[in-house]
Amino acid sequence: MASDHGGPQQGTMPLDTSNAIVNQPLGHHEQVGSTPDDIIIRTSSDTPEHESTTGTTLSDVNVVRAMEEDDADFAGRMEVESFRSKYECAVGKNRMEECTVIRQNNYRDTDDKNCRIFIAEYKNKRAGMLFLKFHGYKGRSSSTCDLYDRLGCRSTHGMLWYICLENAASIDPVECYIECICVDKEHRGKGIGKILMERAEQEAKAIGCSKMTLHVAQSNRAISLYQRQGYHIAKDIDGCCCVWCIVGIRKWYTMSKMI
Ligand SMILES: CC(C)(COP(=O)(O)OP(=O)(O)OC[C@H]1O[C@@H](n2cnc3c(N)ncnc32)[C@H](O)[C@@H]1OP(=O)(O)O)[C@@H](O)C(=O)NCCC(=O)NCCS
Repeated sequence: MASDHGGPQQGTMPLDTSNAIVNQPLGHHEQVGSTPDDIIIRTSSDTPEHESTTGTTLSDVNVVRAMEEDDADFAGRMEVESFRSKYECAVGKNRMEECTVIRQNNYRDTDDKNCRIFIAEYKNKRAGMLFLKFHGYKGRSSSTCDLYDRLGCRSTHGMLWYICLENAASIDPVECYIECICVDKEHRGKGIGKILMERAEQEAKAIGCSKMTLHVAQSNRAISLYQRQGYHIAKDIDGCCCVWCIVGIRKWYTMSKMI
């Protein structure tokens, strides 16, 4: 789906990634030019500075960190489980395991400098994931042969359309697009999503972006989280039968926030 954002444009300067966490080849955890504040690290022994309405203290979320290679299985599974109905529509219910492997491989192979993937840990266990895209991001790709081997003919078609849709959003030079945010079912409603949203803005600002955007299904209750974080509805999108056929959802919002 094309991303069409209502907010004012802020010029077309190339992104300056010198003050941001540069996406190292996975497995590396080095930060280039970043300050200690770039990664929120709180241990359970810290005094909680904030407490969420659900009683979870930020001290329980002890790290939001850049994804490493051994997080790829978690990230792929989280994404497919969190957006299960969309994937089921695209590839069919009986192909979910193969679909998970494809996404896990995508995360493992990510080396595009114009994206960032973060993992949130809650009480020392992986609990959430955030995937940010910036101008110049080329999109996740899997070879058609690999898709065909894993999914067969009909589901490969569905997956290719799904990939087309996720790569369709054009991203402005000063824009940070939230491609995916998800929290493990077991840990939802504890404030982890809010912390990931804040981390997204922190990263976007460090890179020099002035605008956050995302797409959300109009039926998704995550909209209230986004509104609390200062996002507004920039566009009401009717994906008509095309988008509905691919992911089973027709009505979407583009939401955005100037930062
Ligand atoms: C959306 C999501 C990342 C929020 O993470 P979280 O840690 O639960 O968020 P927080 O605890 O900080 O905030 C709670 C808010 O999250 C949203 N939320 C909670 N459970 C949710 C769920 N099952 N589905 C969608 N949104 C949910 C709601 O907006 C909730 O606010 P509310 O109680 O006023 O309705 C998480 O619920 C999730 O992974 N949902 C499924 C995937 C998804 O829909 N992602 C967003 C796609 S645009």
